[in-house]
Amino acid sequence: MARCTAPSAPRFEHHDGSVLGIGAAAPRLSWTIDDAEPGFAQTAYEVEVTRAETTRVFTVEASDQVLVPWPAEPLVSREEAAVRVRVRDAVDWSPWSATSTVEAGLLSPEDWAASFISPRTLAGLETAAPVVRGRFDLPAAAVGRLRLTAHGVYEARLNGQRVGDEVLAPGWTSYSHRLRYQTHDVTDLLREGSNELEVVLGNGWFRGRLGFLGGRGLYGDRLALLAQLEVTDAHGELHVVGTDDSWTAAESGVLADDLYDGQRTDLRRPMWGSESAADVVDVVPVDLGVLVAPDGPPVRVTQVVPAVQVLRSPSGATILDFGQVLVGWVRLRVRGLAAGAEVLVRHAEVLEDGELGVRPLRTARATDTYLVAGGGEEILEPGLTFHGFRYAEVSGAGEVRGEDAEAVVIGSDLQRTGWFSCSDPMLARFHDNVVWGLRGNTVDVPTDCPQRDERLGWTGDIQVFSPTAAFLFNVGGFLTSWLADLSADQLPDGSVPYVIPDVLHDPAPTAAAWGDAAAVVPWVLHERTGDTGILARQLPSMRAWVDRLDALAGESHLWAGGFQFGDWLDPSAPPDDPFAAKTAPDVVATAHLIRSADLVAQVASILGQDAVAGHYRVVAAAARSAFGREYVTPGGRLLSDAPTAYAMALQWDLLPTSEQRVGAQRRLADLVRASGFHINTGFVGTPLVTDALVGGGDVDVAYRLLLQTSCPSWLYPVTMGATTVWERWDSLLPDGSINPGEMTSFNHYALGAVADWLHRVVAGLAPAEPGYRRLLVEPRPCAALTSARARHLTPYGEAAVSWERDGGVFTVDVLVPVGARATVRLPGQEEQTVGHGAYRWEVPDPCRVGGHRIPRTVRDVFDDPAIWTEVVNASAAAGVATDETAVAKRLTPFLDDPAGEVVERLFAHGPRDGYDTLTKQLQPLLAP
Ligand code: BGC
Repeated sequence: MARCTAPSAPRFEHHDGSVLGIGAAAPRLSWTIDDAEPGFAQTAYEVEVTRAETTRVFTVEASDQVLVPWPAEPLVSREEAAVRVRVRDAVDWSPWSATSTVEAGLLSPEDWAASFISPRTLAGLETAAPVVRGRFDLPAAAVGRLRLTAHGVYEARLNGQRVGDEVLAPGWTSYSHRLRYQTHDVTDLLREGSNELEVVLGNGWFRGRLGFLGGRGLYGDRLALLAQLEVTDAHGELHVVGTDDSWTAAESGVLADDLYDGQRTDLRRPMWGSESAADVVDVVPVDLGVLVAPDGPPVRVTQVVPAVQVLRSPSGATILDFGQVLVGWVRLRVRGLAAGAEVLVRHAEVLEDGELGVRPLRTARATDTYLVAGGGEEILEPGLTFHGFRYAEVSGAGEVRGEDAEAVVIGSDLQRTGWFSCSDPMLARFHDNVVWGLRGNTVDVPTDCPQRDERLGWTGDIQVFSPTAAFLFNVGGFLTSWLADLSADQLPDGSVPYVIPDVLHDPAPTAAAWGDAAAVVPWVLHERTGDTGILARQLPSMRAWVDRLDALAGESHLWAGGFQFGDWLDPSAPPDDPFAAKTAPDVVATAHLIRSADLVAQVASILGQDAVAGHYRVVAAAARSAFGREYVTPGGRLLSDAPTAYAMALQWDLLPTSEQRVGAQRRLADLVRASGFHINTGFVGTPLVTDALVGGGDVDVAYRLLLQTSCPSWLYPVTMGATTVWERWDSLLPDGSINPGEMTSFNHYALGAVADWLHRVVAGLAPAEPGYRRLLVEPRPCAALTSARARHLTPYGEAAVSWERDGGVFTVDVLVPVGARATVRLPGQEEQTVGHGAYRWEVPDPCRVGGHRIPRTVRDVFDDPAIWTEVVNASAAAGVATDETAVAKRLTPFLDDPAGEVVERLFAHGPRDGYDTLTKQLQPLLAP
């Protein structure tokens, strides 16, 4: 009698469901088990593989169910296999799973009969987007496959019907090393006899503008297409045709297209080109060895958002508001316009003084233009560009009604896997903003921002954000692909370009926290998805990076001097100097050297490479002792005396003695108090600071920082109506104007990296073993929240933790998927480890609510939210200090003094007007 339900249909590599055109000949398999009796534990599995005429069953004695090896002979090009699995425990076999199919792509360059072609005279940099066209006579198809890719971006039609639903294919990779091709099932689009394939080519990343240095055509000046149509007839015979010099080219109706500047379309011209103006094509040489199949999902339309209002700006412009900063384009319905009338759609993320705030876009024109056909109703929509926006200004379209406009959201079509909610609506909105930030910055490549003349794969940004990303969405394939680009673009000396794919071509790119993406991102993928293969694949790249740093550090073992971004965008850095962080760049640099060396050592030891592991342990140890010698006092003060320095030191174990750890812990919490619980970290410290506080028991201080709403803080943007995470803590200044810094995006995910802490620590759902095979459930409640919940589709299935504080009881519900276990730590309880299943615990609420406690020290005054608010408000009313930051600054030097002396300390220097009033008001709170 089976003791569990049938497993899910198997998944292949990091893909969801069946896969067409996979690049792995031996794709790894994973499955989940929905339900099982208590105590069920898989001890063996069977994989049934059906290919051509044969079915074979492979039995494996193992408890693994995530990314297990392909048990059969490797697939050959175009080969299809149907796969199902079943599992056994000590007692019996489960039912068989449903079947998924996997079909190999073209695994060798020799499988391609087609050649890259490029229009001969059309398609210069300033001409219309070309359409290339081929015609073939084909037998009736039992199975039809179309494989294609381009230099540029493409959209294809077969016999007048759109092929697939991908946008901006083939996406962006390090083109000279890796160019993705897509495989489509076109069986139903084919017909017996004559067939016509038409493909429009846009400039995209290959030939459009790219990077803030003003470059264009960075990968080449000719657009090109590779397309191969493969038809298997009723007798099983394969017929292959593809791009060659018999194809023709014509100009499409797209007069100009650029990812930054937008698209100009003439709707009076035939969109797919006119035959009469046909051009010939040249076969162009491209190394087919660079072709790779996709590892993750393509870019698609993922949502359509209606306009929420139509605004009239002070200058009289018509502005559509979609209510959400998003990425994609506007689809607009117009009617009754004169032929050739020009309609303009301009985009921006924010309004300033009621007009489009386009300054943050820098040189990106972000404008779509249409010359309409005229007469009846027309739909205006681009397809070879994208914009980051919430607002769109429309001109030339007559009166625009809200119902005639929608925002088409595009992005890598990643499966959503993580959710968070809580009792604080602002925090919940912040989390939504993080999700939107991720969606907008995963347009095939993990980018810094999606709107200005940048949109690059900045390594530092994804280095800090990858844990959050891996919780919220299945980014396994997406980041696997990006890491392959990172390895490909890494310099021979191990340096890692600042952006991947590399378009900046810095000759010696070594920046701490940025290049460390080489070590951190594979580690995060392993931790979150259970993928050990990615470690093996990336280890050479990881080692090369750390070797480079070790060489730069030299005999001192301190990586010092040289170019660094440092704790980028520390809020105290002036708008025009984001480098000017409080934490010295050298401290950031050596800390990262140690951390990455630690990671490489751990990875090597996971892979059984003990000698390698030993070497990097030595590298890390040498740098650690140098760090301690150079930057830490015996009592635990650090150079620099700034939260980021302490957070790194505490999180990465850079402090050798317990006295130093205790001292550093106390200093970090005091620095947070000193800033009046405002954030004081940039890209480097922000993902670490709350963990570092909680690690030392300062849970309440961490929450005060998290829930702060005045500037700078995570929630300040929410108070300003933000719908995404901003690049700067104050991209929009409190007076509603745009930060004057020339780098001010309203959609940057890096500072949203704290969401990982919301999932792991606030809700309490963390991975304790790779792929969440063991969960750590350790929610840390606080008085300011009455509930929180996180849910994640782990590789083993759905896991969830949700808690509530009510009537003195802390109730925790936990869901552990089959195949996983959970170590549960609850306040005041012994730690326990449980198997799969749904659990509820009810324990005394550990949070103190209500009741007035007399503070002992000035520090206690900071730490009691009610008393602190009173002190801040009363001080402001008395004119002693204007706001929380100012009060904190006055009192910080006296943290250990008796609480009863707060008023005295507030007036420590300067006139004593208002002293008596303030004493009268505060003394009852501060002294017995
Ligand atoms: C990007 C950042 C990036 C940085 C390098 C900026 O222009 O938008 O997010 O990491 O440059 O410091």
